[in-house]
Amino acid sequence: MTNYFIHESAYVDEGAEIGEETKIWHFSHVCGQAKIGRNCSFGQNVFVANNVIIGDYCKVQNNVSLYEGVILEDYVFCGPSMVFTNIKTPRCEYPRNTSDHYQKTLVKRGASIGANATIVCGVTLYECAFVAAGAVVIKDVPAYAMVAGVPAQIIGWMSAYGDVLEFDEYGYAIDSIGAKYQHVSDNEVIKVS
Ligand SMILES: CC(C)(COP(=O)(O)OP(=O)(O)OC[C@H]1O[C@@H](n2cnc3c(N)ncnc32)[C@H](O)[C@@H]1OP(=O)(O)O)[C@@H](O)C(=O)NCCC(=O)NCCS
Repeated sequence: MTNYFIHESAYVDEGAEIGEETKIWHFSHVCGQAKIGRNCSFGQNVFVANNVIIGDYCKVQNNVSLYEGVILEDYVFCGPSMVFTNIKTPRCEYPRNTSDHYQKTLVKRGASIGANATIVCGVTLYECAFVAAGAVVIKDVPAYAMVAGVPAQIIGWMSAYGDVLEFDEYGYAIDSIGAKYQHVSDNEVIKVS
């Protein structure tokens, strides 16, 4: 049974796996060896390459290309026109365009990537990481870290709910839904309860 929605202007190649309730909107293209989970939404002009794996409840906004090597876990948000890459040193005369050349980019559960941000391949965005609009990410982003700028640097910390965390003198912060976080070190925040 095909319990998902594909707009009539979109192309979904034979063999693509698409989960229940997922919606694929205008002018998008999903390649045949892509795997997409359930309850996802793909906006206008989204491209999903072969061997891309996407979890459940992801939202991919307009004009985003998910190239081979990209893995999105559940509840990942990709803002409009953000850019993934999969080759670190591309050359036209000496092409590096086979699966062996592609570097992995892993976006873990709950992470968000702001509009127009660029993720240079080979990095991991850990749980609930938040990439500001227009940032260029060149290294791993810790869980709950908020990064911005070029190259992206940690500018603060954000809860899973989306509140910027203010830590007390003991290193604890509670967000507006009562979730508690601990600032363990310069590079580490954990959810305590
Ligand atoms: C990162 C973000 C969440 C910060 O929001 P905020 O906590 O309200 O931050 P503020 O506006 O108070 O700014 C805090 C600091 O970060 C800086 N900053 C904020 N956004 C930034 C960005 N995108 N790039 C670079 N610096 C940024 C501000 O200049 C400010 O610096 P300062 O303390 O030196 O003055 C927000 O700016 C952002 O980029 N959101 C993404 C929106 C988006 O792309 N949505 C997509 C769906 S429509």
